[in-house]
Order: sequence, then C-alpha cells, then structure tokens
Amino acid sequence: MPARKTPAAAEETAEQTLEVQEEKKRRRTAKKSAEVGAETAPKVPTRKRSPAKKQAAAAPVEPVVSSELPAPASPELPQPRRSVAFIGSECYPFVKTGGLADVMYALPRALAKLNCDVKVLLPRYRCIAQPWQEKMIYRGSFMMDLCADGRAFYVGIMEYVWDGVVYDFIDNEDFFSYGQPYTNLVDDIPRFCYFGKAALAALNYMDWIPDVIHCHDWQAALVPVYLRTLFAATPLSNAKTVLTIHNLRFQGIYNIPTIQYWTNLPDYVFNKDALTQNWVDANMLKGGLTYCDRITTVSGTYAGEIQTPFFGEELDAHLRYHAGKLRGIVNGIDPQLWNSRTDKFLRAPYGTEDAAAQKQVNKLALQAQLGLEQNADKMVLGLISRLTDQKGLDLVNAIVPALVDGNTQIVVLGTGEARYEDSFRSFEHAYRGTVCSYIAYDEALAHRIYAGADALLVPSLFEPCGLTQLIAMRYGTVPIVRETGGLKDTVQPFNQYANEGNGFTFDRYDAGLLLDAVNRAKTLYFTERPRWDEMVRRDMEKDVSWENSARHYRSLYLELKP
Ligand code: ADP
Ligand code: GLC
Repeated sequence: MPARKTPAAAEETAEQTLEVQEEKKRRRTAKKSAEVGAETAPKVPTRKRSPAKKQAAAAPVEPVVSSELPAPASPELPQPRRSVAFIGSECYPFVKTGGLADVMYALPRALAKLNCDVKVLLPRYRCIAQPWQEKMIYRGSFMMDLCADGRAFYVGIMEYVWDGVVYDFIDNEDFFSYGQPYTNLVDDIPRFCYFGKAALAALNYMDWIPDVIHCHDWQAALVPVYLRTLFAATPLSNAKTVLTIHNLRFQGIYNIPTIQYWTNLPDYVFNKDALTQNWVDANMLKGGLTYCDRITTVSGTYAGEIQTPFFGEELDAHLRYHAGKLRGIVNGIDPQLWNSRTDKFLRAPYGTEDAAAQKQVNKLALQAQLGLEQNADKMVLGLISRLTDQKGLDLVNAIVPALVDGNTQIVVLGTGEARYEDSFRSFEHAYRGTVCSYIAYDEALAHRIYAGADALLVPSLFEPCGLTQLIAMRYGTVPIVRETGGLKDTVQPFNQYANEGNGFTFDRYDAGLLLDAVNRAKTLYFTERPRWDEMVRRDMEKDVSWENSARHYRSLYLELKP
C-alpha cells in the first residue's frame, strides 16, 4: 500500500494511520498466503520468479506495478483507498465495438480520481493498433491448465500504464489472433473460457490481490465461478466480485459438454441454479450471476426491466431470485474525450455561449463532407448506432419518408445487420442530398455528427443505458428517445409549459409515436428557436460525467470491503 498524505485533523490522521497499518497487514497476509496458495492450488500456475520483474528492473521508465503507484496526495481524496481489477473484453481506444469499451475506458479513470487503484485486464487482440501494441511491456508469462483433458495454454502479460490506470493485456495467439474481438460462438466460447481463467491466473502470478474484481458482461462472467471453485484455495479468493450486465441479450450460451471441456469446472456448477439452462445448455452469464457478490447493471430502470419476462431474456426469474444483490448505476461519459470545446475533429469547437452559431458552422461542414445540400436552415437528424434490432431501427425505417419533408435531413452512421444497412442505403439512394447513410464505424465522423446535427434519434426497443444520448446532450444536440432503460433515466422529457427538460420522448414501441416525438421537436425547432436554444444550453450544462456514478461504484466496493 502506498504512503498517503494524511489530512490535518488529528483524529482523521490517527484513523488513517490505523487504516494504513491495517492495509499493510492485510497485504502482508495476502502476500504470504499468495505464496502458499499458489503452491497448493492445483489449477493455478506455480508462482515462479517473474521474468517480468527482471524486465521491469531493466526497463528505464515503465512498467510501474500498480500496487506501487503513489497514491494521489490530495487531502480531499475519499478514504480508504481501494483496489479494483476490471476484467472485460473491450476497452477504448484499444478495441471498441460499442458502449462497453467506453465504460471500460472512462470508469477506471474516474475511479482512479476517487482514490482507487485500478488494473484493467483485457485480451491482447491482434487488431489492437500498432502504436498501442508498441507501448506494451512484457510483464511475464506462464503455462496454465485449462481443459478437462489437461491441455495447458500459454498466458503472456503485456502491460501499459496510462494516466494512473494499469492495463494488462492477456496474450495468447491461439485465442486472440483474429482480426476482431468477436467472431462466432464456436470460437468465442473457448476464447472467453480461457480469458476469464487467464485473467485470474495473471493476477495471482503478479501477486496483485485486489479488494474487488469487477467483471463485465458474459465474456468475463466465468470469473466469479472460477474464483469460488478452482481458485478457492488461493489468496485471490479474498477478493469480492461485482458482475456488471451491460447487455442481457448476450449471455454466452453453449452446450454443457463443450463448456465443461474448456473450463474443467467441477460438475456441481453445472446445475440449474448456476450454469445450466434448460437442462442442455450452459450459460456463462447465468453462472456468473449466481457466484458473484454483487450484480450491477447500467441504469436503474434497466435493473427493474430485466426482472420482467419481456426484457429478461429468459433470465428474469434468475434475476428476481438474485434481486437482493442487484443494483442499477447509470453510466456517464468521459468529459475530456467528449468535449465540444477541445474536440479536434470539429470544424468549429464551441461551448454553451457560442453553441448556436458554431453548431451551424459544424453543420455546414458535415453537410459538405456527406454530400448533403449545404443549408444551415435545415434540421439535421442524426443516428449513430450499431445496426441491430435493439436500436429501434424498424421504427426509423417506417417513418423516413414522412420525415423527409423538404426542411429536414437525416444522417445515419452505423454498421451491423445487412437488412438495416441495405434499407438505409436504399433511403440514401431514394433521397440523395437529403439522407446520408454512412455504413461504417468512424470515430471522427461520429464526433462531427454529434456536433453538427440538431437532434439525435435513439428510439431503442431496449437500452440498458445508452451513451449516444449522453454525448448528444453534451454536444447540444437534442435527443429524441424511447422511454426505456437508461434513456428513460437520463433524458427528461420537454415540458412546454414549465420550459424544462432535455429532449423528446415517447413510450410505446410504435413508429407513429416516434414520428410524433420528432414532429414535436421540429415544431419547437422551426417555430420557437429561442426555446430550442435554451434546451440546447440545458443539455450542455447537464452533468453526464462519470463522477457521480463512479462514487456509487466506490460505495459498492466499500460495502463489499468495508
Ligand atoms: P451500444 O453499446 O449498445 O452499442 P451505446 O450507446 O452504449 O450503445 O454506445 C455506443 C458507442 O459506440 C458510442 O460511443 C457511439 O458513439 C459509438 N458508435 C456506435 N456506432 C458507431 C459508428 N458506426 N461509428 C463510430 N462510433 C460509433
Ligand atoms: C451495452 C448497452 C448500452 C450501454 C453499454 C455500456 O452495449 O447496449 O445501452 O450503454 O453497454 O454500458
């Protein structure tokens, strides 16, 4: 435990000194048992003299072992310091397919500012761009038993320390040398059976026993199961686990023999209260939900919704059973990454004071880039999304002809299912100069749309949290959303009488209601521009940062490790 500056008050000083001593004692005990545990636990690689440590000694600057990172010295930092290992399958800017990557980037940073010592464990995919690969430093390697027939696999640890957060990439060519993080279940199931165990074994190997292991989605859901079974006799088992559901739609389901083979987990976890589902399949997420100490999901409303059959994806009963340990904590966005004043992708960066004028400049630049008629008076509706049925695209498809009224333009940025890519392409063809469907993943263009559009459509069928509406608000782009999940929790509907609210909302999943919401937005935009501009200002001033939510996660960690 790093030394901390104690605050001036004598009482607090004494309290903290005690805490520091206790923390030191805890670490000493943990370290001692690490040495014992590693030898006795059959499934965990024997701890050998780490080549990483030799390497670290030879390396002039990096890596810094995170437990040795100096604690930030500000007396305002919340006490006590807590250590957390994040385990997940994607993290911006290394690899991103959706909002999970944004959370894995921003939440650890926000926690680091709240006196948390955070390590993020990720697969070292080959598709991680070369500049990042070059920053990683070899931290060690070992062979790990994995399969039921005793097959062992290499686990390499490549480390990168950045802004107070330590990133440890699990390296294995057999599993992570594909061009993208996810391919198909046949490959993904073994890949993430391996990853969950390798992440724990890597923590053991590095002798880093966190207070809490925070796992994300099905890809890391076996971690609590491994921890309470194969790792039960290791020091790591002192850690508590949190499993966050970012999207219940994806659960990692496959036949029992395959998962039994790839994990070598004991037979008793394959029962209907844990991994087994419908007697024939094993469900990795379900197992994690059973074995973790706390379940969180990314908004309060979604936490309630997933306990109902419609949103529960066949796990509603299981979630109701575990409701006592389920919490909803809404996501935020990183205020530095999403800052319209400093955004290097924008033609005209802006703040609240000059948003009205500068957004027009950005709109004209966007129209020019996308081949739309350049006219700042047109209302531009944006849509930035994975193109899947989750996102309410059927509703959008049903109303595009009604939206294109001569005063409105539509910009779609997304990739995904062929049926949606094709329908949006055909709209672009039918309404050239008015509709642009940019079928790609393009970070820079996303920033330009958030800045240049007037409103953003998020009519999701379900939405655990949703980040695009948060980013839109921060960029003064009014969200038009369906009242579900995090959309309901973060967008307050416009009230024309009180002149309050942040966006336009509708409740039932119905194209007519979406059209009505867009028409209400259009009416305000075209007929009462000053009131529209006030809403833009309210949106830009709304606190959508991680600060608040990170405090909730911190409290949860403290609840588990007082
Ligand atoms: P989900 O995780 O369900 O896809 P979120 O709203 O939580 O939805 O997060 C989506 C993230 O991905 C946002 O940061 C959004 O800007 C980004 N995004 C989605 N599609 C694209 C795209 N085609 N190009 C660039 N960024 C995209
Ligand atoms: C998932 C959800 C999305 C959420 C994101 C980050 O991908 O679909 O609603 O914002 O995870 O938690």
